[in-house]
Amino acid sequence: MKIVTRTDTRQKALFVTAEIADLVKVGGLGDVSAAIPRAMQASHDVRVLIPGYRQVLESGNAIRVVGEVEGYAALPACKIGRIDTDDGLVIYVVLCPELYDREGTPYGDDEGVDWPDNHIRFARLSLAAAEFAAGRAGLKWTPQLLHLNDWQTALTPAYLFWRDQPTPSIFTIHNLAYQGLCDARCSVELGLPVNGLESNEPGKVSFLKAGILYATHITTVSATYAQEITTPAFGCGLEGLLGDKQQQGCLTGILNGIDDSWAPESDPHLIQGFAANDWAGKQANAVQVRMTFGLAPSNGPIFAVVSRLVHQKGLDLTLQVAEHIVNQGGQIALIGRGEAKVEAAVRELAARFPGQIAARIGFNETDARRMFAGSDFLLMPSRYEPCGLSQMYAQCFGSLPIARNTGGLADSIEDGITGFLFEDSSAESYRSAIDRAFRVYAHPELFRAMRCRAMASPYHWRVSIQPYSRLYDQLLSAAPLQLLRQG
Ligand code: ADP
Ligand code: GLC
Repeated sequence: MKIVTRTDTRQKALFVTAEIADLVKVGGLGDVSAAIPRAMQASHDVRVLIPGYRQVLESGNAIRVVGEVEGYAALPACKIGRIDTDDGLVIYVVLCPELYDREGTPYGDDEGVDWPDNHIRFARLSLAAAEFAAGRAGLKWTPQLLHLNDWQTALTPAYLFWRDQPTPSIFTIHNLAYQGLCDARCSVELGLPVNGLESNEPGKVSFLKAGILYATHITTVSATYAQEITTPAFGCGLEGLLGDKQQQGCLTGILNGIDDSWAPESDPHLIQGFAANDWAGKQANAVQVRMTFGLAPSNGPIFAVVSRLVHQKGLDLTLQVAEHIVNQGGQIALIGRGEAKVEAAVRELAARFPGQIAARIGFNETDARRMFAGSDFLLMPSRYEPCGLSQMYAQCFGSLPIARNTGGLADSIEDGITGFLFEDSSAESYRSAIDRAFRVYAHPELFRAMRCRAMASPYHWRVSIQPYSRLYDQLLSAAPLQLLRQG
């Protein structure tokens, strides 16, 4: 009897990233990298490529060696491993212990100091991706499209270009401020054959610039940020180049989404699930937050902060308005980690208001989810915010974001309907939004109506994935033309 196997007709794409929440996450990039490849499966065969950090090697997943790539310049040769997740996602791993098997985060040591060889580590990742596209990774599976994310993968389109490899690429900018700068003298180690990657900082080259220059298409994670980065205030010196790309139709903003695990009725992390109208369920989660953080019993609102503690996130502004919040009967619960001086300032603040302001320096997913569920408001006074996921998570769990009117915050919060937006990066502007929030909180029917609207916000990947799917198709269908042109 003839065995008939169904052939997979989906087109193949490799999603290259420095983080994936399944294995290792520093911020929103990890969440998005876990979500996009999964959400795309219905239409495309999308697989992931990441470095083999210690967290990956020790994750308990079986890693089969399935391929290898050659060394180049100072980039060592390495093996390619494969992880198959329980839900069927294929994750390829660049196995190079001398570069990746270390204590610390993907980017630096436990003190937050960047690894001195980051240029080598991420050039290795970038070039491995280009080798996949060229069919030179020893695998039967060759991607027809590469989807690259942030500076750590930004040399890939450049390597493709320099090697005449016509595979189309999408370069997604999650945060323009992290450019991946390295000393221009290191170019030799990376085998960078041409100039043109100089940054504004004298003597440095920018990985990110390579992605912008050579990718077939650039996306960023909200429409407003796509516009903002073409201006000097947000463009980090690359606004001219990005403006040109926008004019050529090669820069698009695609708003992130959140995955289906964000379901307040059934989230196993919560002590009690709740639906939009379930006031008591929400209250039970508030009690849990007060208990966990040692906050005093109160009828006032809880303001949550779930954030990387870095300049971008405007924590200094929250420090300035904290007393104002406490004086009106509010409490603040904060979780996060980041720059040492921000962490110290946050600890100091909590010590000044025992029982009213509490901070946990660190991060874990359960506490973060419980805070979204148990709080009334989320504070997010970011100086800039390419997209932001925390405000989407908060809305989904019935906590109204109070945020700056910038980037993805502007595109995902309806002012006075699902949250509160303020204009200026100043304590005064921020305070006026907080006062509006207190006024709404004083009118339970208004507050509940806003909470219901927020919980109905439509930011799920099921919907948000469609522009990516269309963009993949568009580039894949144009690819043969490109091949002809280059041939
Ligand atoms: P960003 O990526 O700039 O930090 P987002 O709002 O897009 O901002 O994503 C934040 C994500 O990272 C959320 O899932 C949040 O719970 C998580 N997160 C926040 N702070 C930390 C931290 N210190 N360490 C790890 N993850 C964090
Ligand atoms: C970056 C941005 C954040 C965005 C995330 C995922 O970390 O700071 O705004 O949501 O990437 O795209």
